Amino acid sequence: MPWQCQSKSNKRNRKGKTMRLEDIRNIAIIGGGTMGNGIVHVAAQTGYHVVLLDLDKKYLDRAMETISKNMDRQVKKEIMTAEAKAESLARISPTTDISRVKECQLVIEAIIEKLEPKLDLFRKLDEITPKDTILASNTSSLPITRLATVTKRPDKVVGMHFMNPVPMMKLVEMIRGVATSDETFETATELGKKMGKIPVPSQDYPGFIANRILMPMINEAVYALFEGVGTAEDIDTVMKLGMAHPMGPLALADFIGLDICLDILNVLHEGLGDPKYRPCPLLKKKVEAGYLGRKSGHGFFMYD
Ligand code: NAI
Repeated sequence: MPWQCQSKSNKRNRKGKTMRLEDIRNIAIIGGGTMGNGIVHVAAQTGYHVVLLDLDKKYLDRAMETISKNMDRQVKKEIMTAEAKAESLARISPTTDISRVKECQLVIEAIIEKLEPKLDLFRKLDEITPKDTILASNTSSLPITRLATVTKRPDKVVGMHFMNPVPMMKLVEMIRGVATSDETFETATELGKKMGKIPVPSQDYPGFIANRILMPMINEAVYALFEGVGTAEDIDTVMKLGMAHPMGPLALADFIGLDICLDILNVLHEGLGDPKYRPCPLLKKKVEAGYLGRKSGHGFFMYD
């Protein structure tokens, strides 16, 4: 059996009590971008008070606008009532003041997929939040074990990897770092279920399960385009019609964000040390040019 992270040997790291699901009333989400606004949406809809933190008011306004529009779609489809929408929005407190996270029993980080900014943030969160607060990361690929090392509560650090778009997608990949306690893992897993998701556990290796498999496929599609094997439309059509994928890999890359895809491939390449994960030069060039996919209006395809 391959080596697996086990938390039982980490009892020495445990300090303070561990939050149980019933202790959690307020959740902080850090970063209101593609993923953050979706997690805020679902947490508020589940009944939690949510502190939404971003760097600038313009990002908060954009996040609130997206959440409101996405909820309108749910109201139209009769998945949600207009009253529930208003109540959910009222439970969200957008802010640029990081000290507001002290009110929260659980924090979910969803900022850019780069190690140093995430380490800085985890250091700050560890200083500001009460010592029992669970610190979760929505990282797609970075080691939870490493994020935990900059805190004094490595047993309370866990990965909750939601899928995009969060209100629609059923999966939450649950990542246990080397020091994550069983109690923390259980509380975060129960929270995932309460938010209407199906949690699936993964060990803490680069890309976990989802991106270990998805990103090499996307990268190969970019190489196929780069080498002229097919046009972007033809590559996506082959995968949709031939493999019954709901979306082609290049459209999916645009949807995820080409910068995020590149960051994840770099983590796989460095973390696993295998050249098969090297990002395609065409992907790097698109990111350099600021063609980030849907969010910038231009990626492998054009968007309004
Ligand atoms: P994004 O670029 O859309 O949003 C990031 C947000 O974080 C921006 O609004 C930015 O202003 C904010 N931010 C950056 N540094 C901050 C800080 N120090 N404090 C507060 N806010 C800060 O990124 P996206 O796509 O939402 O990704 C976020 C995380 O979720 C990444 O770790 C990514 O790997 C992961 N993820 C992304 C998925 C996707 O499909 N895009 C899917 C699943 C996970």
